[in-house]
Amino acid sequence: MLLLSIETSCDETAAAVVRDGREIVSSVISSQVAIHAEYGGVVPEIASRKHLEMISPVITQALENADIGIGDIEGVAVTRGPGLSGALLVGFSAAKAIAAAKRIPFVGVNHIEGHIFAAFLEEAAPFPFLALVVSGGHTHLYHVEGFGRYTTLGRTIDDAAGEAYDKSAKIMGMPYPGGALIDKMACSGDPAAVRLPRPLIRDGSLNFSFSGLKTALLQHVAKHPVTIPGQDANDLCASFQQAVCDVLASKTESAIRQTSARHLVVAGGVACNSGLRSRMAQLCDKLQIGLSIPHPSLCGDNAAMLAVPGDYYLSNGFASPWTQDVTATWDMDSIKELFL
Ligand code: KG4
Ligand code: ZN
Repeated sequence: MLLLSIETSCDETAAAVVRDGREIVSSVISSQVAIHAEYGGVVPEIASRKHLEMISPVITQALENADIGIGDIEGVAVTRGPGLSGALLVGFSAAKAIAAAKRIPFVGVNHIEGHIFAAFLEEAAPFPFLALVVSGGHTHLYHVEGFGRYTTLGRTIDDAAGEAYDKSAKIMGMPYPGGALIDKMACSGDPAAVRLPRPLIRDGSLNFSFSGLKTALLQHVAKHPVTIPGQDANDLCASFQQAVCDVLASKTESAIRQTSARHLVVAGGVACNSGLRSRMAQLCDKLQIGLSIPHPSLCGDNAAMLAVPGDYYLSNGFASPWTQDVTATWDMDSIKELFL
């Protein structure tokens, strides 16, 4: 199937044309990051209005880049949730309108599910596998048995990993979102320079907590202000990154052992992180299991990733009903009730 996929859950307006849920024919991402940076975070009202402005140009560009017309599209996959309701509604309404006008099916896909299957745009991972999703809103471990069949094994009880990165960057005086900059500065720093906590690392659960780590960093900066650029800031970034990676690697290892998983998929914006990518490679090497981490260009929000589960659902007769609405929260474990 030739699918058009649309993503507007947060601050990127994205559209892609994907063949058979595997081959990206075109992918367009219009980011609002620079607009929200001024406010230090995403402003939902502004996000919705910007999506409304960009949705048509972005879809048109994706079709143009694919060198096809709207009449060539056989189905539409769109993010239904989780995300900002007003933002989701823009992409969802556009998807429904195109599907209705062209008399083709559409399917509402879970954003997290999209992140997990971004890896399949490069190479399909063998089911069942363990998935670590690390983004601005999520830090979750899932047991993935197949499309739509997800069991949550662990989750953050407070901040998500990306949120901890962005808040810590703000404390150090960096612009929003500072995750990528911390990563860059960490490469020139000493990870043993500042002692920071590893919250919940030995609590026996598969849950995460990052708010205490961010508070410890805040207290350190209050006593030892950092200058950017500067070696002290690089050292603090490296120490912070090491603490985050220690916790993520430790919990992921426990989950692999508990589930006897033979393959790990790491997904979401924080999967761009160089420290995390090499830690996960070391871990999978040690445990002798397979690893999929998509190219950084596929880790952040994009529309192509939605077409992987979207193609599966539409090919198997699970089109969404016309009455379907968006959902700001959507538990991955409940997806099986919709599609199986
Ligand atoms: O998946 P994503 O694009 O959007 C959400 O669904 O949240 O993830 C965005 C998050 C932000 O918190 C951003 O700072 C973080 O991913 N991020 C990084 C890196 N690149 C992006 N965090 C750490 N290191 C990076 N290299
Ligand atoms: Zn995302």
